[in-house]
Amino acid sequence: VSAERGGFQHFMQKEIHEQPKAIRDTLTGRLDEDLQSVALPELSWTDESLQAIDRIHIVACGTSWHAGLVGKDAIEKIAKIPVEVDVASEYRYRDPLVTPNTLVIVITQSGETADTLAALRDSKQKGLRVLAITNVVGSSAAREADDVLITWAGPEIAVASTKAYTTQLVTLYLLAAYLGQARGTLSSDAKAEVLGALAGLPTVAEQVLDAAPRIERFAKDYQEARDTFFIGRGLDYAVSLEGALKLKEISYIHAEAYAAGELKHGTLALITDGVPVIALATQTHLYEKTLSNIKEVKARDAFVLGLTWAGDEELKKSVDEVIYLPRTSPVVAPIVAVIPLQLLAYYAAVVRGNDVDKPRNLAKSVTVE
Ligand code: G6P
Repeated sequence: VSAERGGFQHFMQKEIHEQPKAIRDTLTGRLDEDLQSVALPELSWTDESLQAIDRIHIVACGTSWHAGLVGKDAIEKIAKIPVEVDVASEYRYRDPLVTPNTLVIVITQSGETADTLAALRDSKQKGLRVLAITNVVGSSAAREADDVLITWAGPEIAVASTKAYTTQLVTLYLLAAYLGQARGTLSSDAKAEVLGALAGLPTVAEQVLDAAPRIERFAKDYQEARDTFFIGRGLDYAVSLEGALKLKEISYIHAEAYAAGELKHGTLALITDGVPVIALATQTHLYEKTLSNIKEVKARDAFVLGLTWAGDEELKKSVDEVIYLPRTSPVVAPIVAVIPLQLLAYYAAVVRGNDVDKPRNLAKSVTVE
């Protein structure tokens, strides 16, 4: 335990625990106190250019791409602008269909990822407006984009991204609300729900971290696991992808994320006695559907760890263990639900004696193609 790790054993653990503060710092100055509006004064957009945006392309790699998947949902729901999300290494070679008023958003923690920068540069060459969401002030992405939103996560040292992801999500929600308020698509109910949930997130994140000892125990019990499945629908599917990536990156356990309704089209063949399945059930409108998918894996004797909201009495009847999340709006569930998954990956790597902060074959920022 060194001083620079703030009393924690690893940078990743420290960064997981810094999330309440990182989220608060990312919200500061952007949400007004009475939760009536979002301000993003750093954007240079005129009202005219803002109204003109007719589609958005989000481009990113790795964890930042997973943030983009959640961003698509938020922007489409709140601002009613169609959004496509691409992995940068695909986007740059696929000749994407753009309009003169397409806004390109690149998301990159480091601001230096080669594929993401190439997408940024290609887009600018086409005359498109590019917004960068990055954690590094003065990075290449920050310097080259037309506009920049900084995620105030503070330096992220561990290769596996945690607080950068959650602050990217916060930034994307703020952006969705900002676009929605300017374009008149943010109803007052939605405003109260989204802005209220954002303001409550630092406290909620704090409460989720209390689950760390239980998750550590779970990780120890499942030391021998070779394959793990993460399932969920809607936003829970996007978070499943991130949960599976975290586990793969540092524990080296094979993990697959599956849209819960798609399981029966192949993956169910791999669900056998004792295979751990992490099932996310935070999306209220999809709850019943997810529950029936959970029953399908339970019927094949999987060991199921469920994630749902505190107060839910149903899920525990169909799974082996439940992690309860402090209640907040399902719209911002990804920020809350990912934290136990980060902890799970962390403890699974620690139990295996892996180099948590510097996993094999991976780099913090990939500056070559
Ligand atoms: C590397 C890192 C990942 C990260 C990805 C994108 O692969 O190991 O953790 O998500 O790059 O990085 P960026 O800095 O562009 O967000």
